[in-house]
Amino acid sequence: MSNRALFATKIGVIATSVGSAVGLGNIWRFPYEVGVHGGGAFLMVYIICILLIGIPAVTSELIIGKKTHKNSFGAMRELGGSSWKWVSVIGIVASLMILSFYSVVAGWTMEYLMQSVTGGLFKSSAAEYTQAFATFTTDSYRPVIMVLVFLALNHLIIMAGVEKGIEKISNILMPLLFVILLVFCVNSLFLSGASEGISFLFTPDFSQITPSVVLGAMGQAFFSLSVGLGCLLTYASYFPDDTPILRTSATIAGLDTMVAILAGLVIFPILFTFQGGDFIAGPKLVFEVLPNIFTDITGGRYLSILFFMLLFFASITSTISMSEISISFFMEEFKISRMKAAAFSTTIAVVFGTLCALSFGPLADVKFFDLTFFDFFNRVSSEIMLPIGGLLYVVFAGWFLDKKILRAQLAVKDNAVSHAIVSFVIFCIKFVTPLAISLIFLYSLGVFG
Ligand code: PHE
Repeated sequence: MSNRALFATKIGVIATSVGSAVGLGNIWRFPYEVGVHGGGAFLMVYIICILLIGIPAVTSELIIGKKTHKNSFGAMRELGGSSWKWVSVIGIVASLMILSFYSVVAGWTMEYLMQSVTGGLFKSSAAEYTQAFATFTTDSYRPVIMVLVFLALNHLIIMAGVEKGIEKISNILMPLLFVILLVFCVNSLFLSGASEGISFLFTPDFSQITPSVVLGAMGQAFFSLSVGLGCLLTYASYFPDDTPILRTSATIAGLDTMVAILAGLVIFPILFTFQGGDFIAGPKLVFEVLPNIFTDITGGRYLSILFFMLLFFASITSTISMSEISISFFMEEFKISRMKAAAFSTTIAVVFGTLCALSFGPLADVKFFDLTFFDFFNRVSSEIMLPIGGLLYVVFAGWFLDKKILRAQLAVKDNAVSHAIVSFVIFCIKFVTPLAISLIFLYSLGVFG
């Protein structure tokens, strides 16, 4: 343990963890979820989920990682013994699955970034953008090349190590990401549809709150915070011992939510100004609708470059955290070098990433349980493995972890945190959070229809 890496600075602790949390989930998925779930009502439920589920779940993982300074498997073995260590395996497998499909979308953002730079992206009608996106994603080579290039960049960073790779790149990219997002925000707030967009985001219409909104918000909170698969646990194993757990959890959750809201403040004014508030779902929003809108805005080409850069930065600081889960596991449990462990993780991601990249074109008809590779990896990891993993980590921290460890970890540098807050978080970890996660899980299995 003595020669194991630690993040060198306090800023590094926050930049890396927030770098993991802030990703495509915030900038691309969150605005779409808000859009389809009725605006302000979704935001309100989402914030409640972050507070009651997100922060306790993040806290549980941070405690386990920081206490042991081990990879997720080693950490669970040390604290929980021979049966609990298997919980980490769900997360290790899920992290490789998420890495595979997520890198495909990250590859698309790189393609669109390059096309924005060359100018090849810009077309003259909405139909042409739709066509261009379909032609690109169904191609047999281009999306594969982009996923490989993306994974190669990801590989270079993780090879450079915890401090020189992960921490350094996060320290550079995260502030840049905030600056770019603020530039966009200011830009959006001057648009004619700004007030409509803002009121859509912030005015809750309580009649819109249905069970599916609540459960959608919980799922989004999970994915967005990178919680449930031992990702934050792994990063916390690199935290110096005097890192305050609760304050760090609150900062991760606060900044992650802030980025999601800022993304909403960028996108809704644009949609209300140029599309009359028409919310087009998922990948289309970013890859078809926004480029079309950028053509109409002065300086749109530069905005487009900045936007895809933003998505790219957000993606790569998330994928390095997904990679680190399995890398630290391979390194420490099989006693191999970082180089070999990284080669192993990247090879797996290359194979499955390629299959996912081809699932829109040549492999569109290859299905498991009626789902393409991409959808299968996406759905099984985020809807099944992530909630189960998250539930088990929280239940472990709340019911099986030595109470003294729990309290002692929560007490590190807690002079600003009152007893009442600590007790409330423990109450959530024991009762509220496991119950809520169980509901998401049952919902995703279709138990509620
Ligand atoms: N939180 C990341 C995002 O919002 C995704 C992620 C999930 C990262 C799981 C790491 C682990 O894009």
